[in-house]
Amino acid sequence: MHPLSEKAGECARYIKEHNEALVISHIDADGVTSAAIMCKTLEREGMDYEVRFLKQLDSAALNEIADMGKQLVIFTDLGSAMTDPINALGINAVIADHHQPSGEGEYHLNPHLFGINGANELSGSGATYLIGRAMGSNRDLAGLAVVGAIGDLQDSREGRLIGINRQILEEGVEAGVLSFEPDIRLFGRQTRPIHKLLEYCSDPYIRGITGDKEGCLRFLYDLGINLKENDWRRWIDLRKDEKQQVVSGLMRLCMASGIPPYKVERLVGEVYTLLKEEEGTELRDASEYSTLLNATARYGHAEIGLAVCMGDRADAYAFAHNLQMQHRRNLSNGLNFVREEGVTTLENLQYFHARDNIQDTIVGIVAGMSASIKGVNRKLPMIALADAEDGIKVSARGTQGLVRRGLNLAVALRESAEQVDGSGGGHDIAAGATIPRGAEEKFISILNEKIGLQLGDGYE
Ligand code: C5P
Ligand code: C5P
Ligand code: ZN
Repeated sequence: MHPLSEKAGECARYIKEHNEALVISHIDADGVTSAAIMCKTLEREGMDYEVRFLKQLDSAALNEIADMGKQLVIFTDLGSAMTDPINALGINAVIADHHQPSGEGEYHLNPHLFGINGANELSGSGATYLIGRAMGSNRDLAGLAVVGAIGDLQDSREGRLIGINRQILEEGVEAGVLSFEPDIRLFGRQTRPIHKLLEYCSDPYIRGITGDKEGCLRFLYDLGINLKENDWRRWIDLRKDEKQQVVSGLMRLCMASGIPPYKVERLVGEVYTLLKEEEGTELRDASEYSTLLNATARYGHAEIGLAVCMGDRADAYAFAHNLQMQHRRNLSNGLNFVREEGVTTLENLQYFHARDNIQDTIVGIVAGMSASIKGVNRKLPMIALADAEDGIKVSARGTQGLVRRGLNLAVALRESAEQVDGSGGGHDIAAGATIPRGAEEKFISILNEKIGLQLGDGYE
């Protein structure tokens, strides 16, 4: 047995020694699916549980958790950076996380402790699933584990899930809850009219398509694709030969406008379908499902996303739907803000300060999406700042090329934040921090230096 599964088994047995648990999780799609997997597992075990969602696990939050005096606390999609204070407070804990850990601990399941990369080989929901699977017949929960991994963009490097994520996917296929196939990797295959699907294509940016409604309509007309059959046709409504026509048409356009082949290839990849969900709903597609969850959790409504994951297709689902529309608007406004304000470029990073124009809980998503904006340098990490209740929120996003050259944003952000009395962490390719108001300039300058040291003199 893989040592990671062995550790999952130990955690599972330990949880079973209790009859109640407090589940603490993170406010994003991976956090919500993690919590759902654990709650379902506990429910099936006949254990009592309570759930709390946190923006981040800091010492104030930990003190509150300790004061609740629970028999057992299960941390999912967070906790690995706080093992020392968790022990110091005497919290009886099981941790299932994938962020870069600061310590070990007896019931601590984290891929990094086994030489597995938590940025693309296993998500928080995947780690939680490994424990759930060891507790009982819970392989049907693999669907949620894949939604969490996709929500964390763990498939973005290869265009497909790899590592332990892939094993979980295969278990989900066996359990009849998941399928995967090569397809166009544009967002909204289940729900958007085709011309909208194309219009929102941002990776790669295709002139005459991206953000160009008329262009998209003309492109589809020229290919002879019918846009309507009773209703607007969605990607899932197209015949196979029509899909192939659209994909080759897009590729020709990309080539004609000089987009390098490796970027063109990103148009197609693997897509993941949740077979038990109704066709034509977001929940059928792992990527759309995860966005729906982000639309709840990042706006203080994680319990709504949780209810959807637990099976609610009535009130909670309707509410999530409404939140989703607002989330889309917020992301689009956020991108416009970056487009209009521009970014400041230093030697080793570029940054923008959104202040109160972008919420701290989604500024990271905007930072990630901003790579598609003209004028943004793909060779430098993007650092985004925004006002938060407890100071200034920092979100950082890098690229695979930079990570190969030595970039580790989790380390760079943690160390730079600590130097200005803040804290941070995350993954090599994507990380975050909170720093005191007013410390931005000093922080950015330290970070610029640290990233410079990580990248050394190497070049791509
Ligand atoms: O807190 P958590 O680990 O769930 O968040 C991971 C973050 O890293 C996500 O916001 C995801 O978008 C980002 N990420 C990324 N590129 C990757 C992997 C993760 O931007 N290749
Ligand atoms: O918030 P954002 O999406 O930018 O977070 C990127 C990654 O950094 C996530 O994995 C998140 O959990 C992590 N992070 C952290 N400490 C913080 C803020 C974010 O470890 N203070
Ligand atoms: Zn995660």
